[in-house]
Amino acid sequence: MITPENIQSTISDLQKTYIDFMLEHLSQWRHWAELSNSMEAGEAVPIEDIPEFFHTEYEWARIVLEMEDQGGFNWNDPRLGKLFAAAAQTPFYKLWGETITEISLRLAHLAGVKTFLETGAGRANLTTVMLEKMTMQKTFLPLFITDTHETVLENIDKLQADYPDIQQETALWDITNPPPEILLHKVTPPVLMYERATLTYANYRTIENIARIADIVVLGDYFNYTGELFGYDRIFGKIGLQPLMFKDIKQILDVHFPNQYIVDQQVTDAVHIPNISLIIAWK
Ligand SMILES: C[S@@+](CC[C@H](N)C(=O)[O-])C[C@H]1O[C@@H](n2cnc3c(N)ncnc32)[C@H](O)[C@@H]1O
Repeated sequence: MITPENIQSTISDLQKTYIDFMLEHLSQWRHWAELSNSMEAGEAVPIEDIPEFFHTEYEWARIVLEMEDQGGFNWNDPRLGKLFAAAAQTPFYKLWGETITEISLRLAHLAGVKTFLETGAGRANLTTVMLEKMTMQKTFLPLFITDTHETVLENIDKLQADYPDIQQETALWDITNPPPEILLHKVTPPVLMYERATLTYANYRTIENIARIADIVVLGDYFNYTGELFGYDRIFGKIGLQPLMFKDIKQILDVHFPNQYIVDQQVTDAVHIPNISLIIAWK
């Protein structure tokens, strides 16, 4: 059984590292947020004016705006491949991935989880971190890896050869719909679902669909906690990233996963940054 108290004691070292990192780097967030308003208004904002921690977000915003001027956003533009690769290598993205997967593994031991499930696996960056950790820790639970895109899952199939001790299954699942029957039949509960940066491409109602299959969720996603919106929210909205309000997501979580633990609550409380980025919730 998991409780807020035993989650806290199980992840306290991870939580401290995560919070310390965020507090160290996020103090200037409002400066970036206000400059993103200027970018949205069409003003020239040189990268030198942006605090270094936000350079990747700045580059994204700059390219989205540039594409708008050049006729619209295009996912096949080669500039995006470079941006994705650079984003995945930032210290924050690495720490985010490490923290999501390590928390998932520790909770799995605590709650006797029988199956791991990843949604929106993308280029398998997070999946690879998970497989690496499972192998190191000899936690050989089956891992179900899902996404909407077939090509993404074909890439992931190749991971089976690199991590032969772990039963890996891939499935197509658009989380705006209920999970496919075949997936429901194959998993053994309790199921722990983890993800990073996927729900913000979908919508709040995905929680209902995820609740049909998962008992515990580790959500590495941005949820707007304070309600403040800035230029970057609207700029990223042009490529399908929706600001998800925590107050709305909480109402749905309360129905399906009534127990919740916000790992980085202390960061928002201290620096008032709008987004939280890591929630654990369970039935
Ligand atoms: C920013 S990528 C994140 C990839 C991966 N989670 C990671 O952290 O490296 C977002 C992923 O969400 C997937 N995605 C977007 N909408 C989705 C939906 N409705 N259902 C399932 N996956 C979705 C995309 O295909 C993409 O692979």
